[in-house]
Amino acid sequence: MEPVNLAIVYYSATGNVHTLAQAAAEGAEKAGANVRLRKVAELAPPEAINANPAWGQHIQNSADVTVVSLDDLAWADAVLFGTPTRFGNPASQLRAFIDTTGPLWREGKLTDKVYSAFTASNTVHGGQESTLLALANTFYHWGGIIVPPGYADPIQFKSGNPYGTSHVAGEGAPGEVAVQAARFQARRVVETAAALKAGRAASFQAG
Ligand SMILES: Cc1cc2nc3c(=O)[nH]c(=O)nc-3n(C[C@H](O)[C@H](O)[C@H](O)COP(=O)(O)O)c2cc1C
Repeated sequence: MEPVNLAIVYYSATGNVHTLAQAAAEGAEKAGANVRLRKVAELAPPEAINANPAWGQHIQNSADVTVVSLDDLAWADAVLFGTPTRFGNPASQLRAFIDTTGPLWREGKLTDKVYSAFTASNTVHGGQESTLLALANTFYHWGGIIVPPGYADPIQFKSGNPYGTSHVAGEGAPGEVAVQAARFQARRVVETAAALKAGRAASFQAG
């Protein structure tokens, strides 16, 4: 069977979500997927970016990551979205990309894919779940198959968020637990998408 195509589409201002996205890419590749790691375009004005040295630094550090296009979504069997929490919601940079998907949605090209999401916030109760659930609203509209990590692996009892890998950036860069959780989430998404792909191929052949 053809490997699963996984797009990891993320926004990161200061690198935490970028680290989770890279860990997810590792997990997905190990699970046998073709992976496209894609950032969304930065939309913030230079004065906002320049006010935070870590922000500008991360833009330089991630210059080699390709900016996402609609073709990445059309290509994918599964999509993992990553975003920082912004006042309890996904970042506007990621939302702006999502708001360009109307043509794909209208053609039914976002339906039946596997979707899942991960996040970072500054504090433990800073809105990780609300951010992930807000993204899931869109997955429902797309007719997506939402695959959360739940407690389906021992790492989830350490990382503790069944809605999606979540990192508390106020405590420092993502450590081993968050990285392992992101790898697991990606593997779970790939394995679920692979089962669906195989099942659909079999039922297509059976007519
Ligand atoms: C405009 C803005 C709003 C934010 N809102 C929240 C919030 O509601 N809760 C929280 O814990 N952190 C909040 N943060 C902190 C970010 O979530 C945190 O810096 C981010 O997760 C780090 O991820 P990154 O390094 O990938 O950019 C906010 C940051 C900004 C700039």
